[in-house]
Amino acid sequence: MAYTRKDVSTLTGAERRRFVNALLEIKRKGEYDEFVRMHIDHYVSDGEGGRRSAHMAPSFLPWHRRFLLDLERALQRVDSSVTVPYWDWTRDRTKTAAPWTPDLLGGNGRRSDHQVTTGPFAYATGGWTIRENVTDGEFLTRDLGRAAAPIGLPTTSDVEWALQDPVYDSAPWDSTVTRGFRNKLEGWGTGSGSAAWRNHNRVHRWVGGVMLGGASVNDPVFWLHHAFVDLLWTRWQSRHREHRYLPAEPPGPRDSQHRRVVARKEKLPPWNVTPDQLEDASGIYRYA
Ligand code: CU
Ligand code: CU
Repeated sequence: MAYTRKDVSTLTGAERRRFVNALLEIKRKGEYDEFVRMHIDHYVSDGEGGRRSAHMAPSFLPWHRRFLLDLERALQRVDSSVTVPYWDWTRDRTKTAAPWTPDLLGGNGRRSDHQVTTGPFAYATGGWTIRENVTDGEFLTRDLGRAAAPIGLPTTSDVEWALQDPVYDSAPWDSTVTRGFRNKLEGWGTGSGSAAWRNHNRVHRWVGGVMLGGASVNDPVFWLHHAFVDLLWTRWQSRHREHRYLPAEPPGPRDSQHRRVVARKEKLPPWNVTPDQLEDASGIYRYA
């Protein structure tokens, strides 16, 4: 039977404790850092060559869906009752709301160096030393709302703008497309300043610290954020039932995106699974 992923603001005290403890346990075993490394290794941008599977590409959504499932399985090996909660940032919009509480992810970073000093992932607890990073920082950092140049979380109408688009994605299937649900949700915009960051990307900017780069998995909020992004994909699917993942076929040899993106029935690196097989996860989990 399918299990349930819950809104993080509705978790009971016991559910919060079990989720946090499972995260700390896979971190202690070294498994967590393998997830961080994998995300860093797949952080290929469209300015580089090669196939893009995780970002700036149609498979942004199935790639992160499978990534979350792998993490969830690792947590469930520790505690079978645990599922990944989601953070609905259209509702929980302050620096002290869920999930930024001392019994969940802890709060904002301190002013001097953005080090998170509260909650279970504070450096001083000894249980959350960062070992896989794109910089040499060993402690978790956050700059909620980006104090020096404030940026707001995306709103319900920002999300609605993405959900309304009936087309999953469009050529050239990268960070420059202005049509299609995928990039409207992934959030690569045009222009300069914070207006260029939309939806998913804007949330990474709002959290700041380690959430800004390829090593964003080091902040456990990564999973709660991506669970909500995944939920929004299911909402888009139920609103546009006749529309599916695109491209259906691989771009041809004369196309600039030839071998650069993953078509519906191609393998999604690094797994032996296709976007087609990941479109419907309702047999595995549902969102409450
Ligand atoms: Cu990612
Ligand atoms: Cu992300």
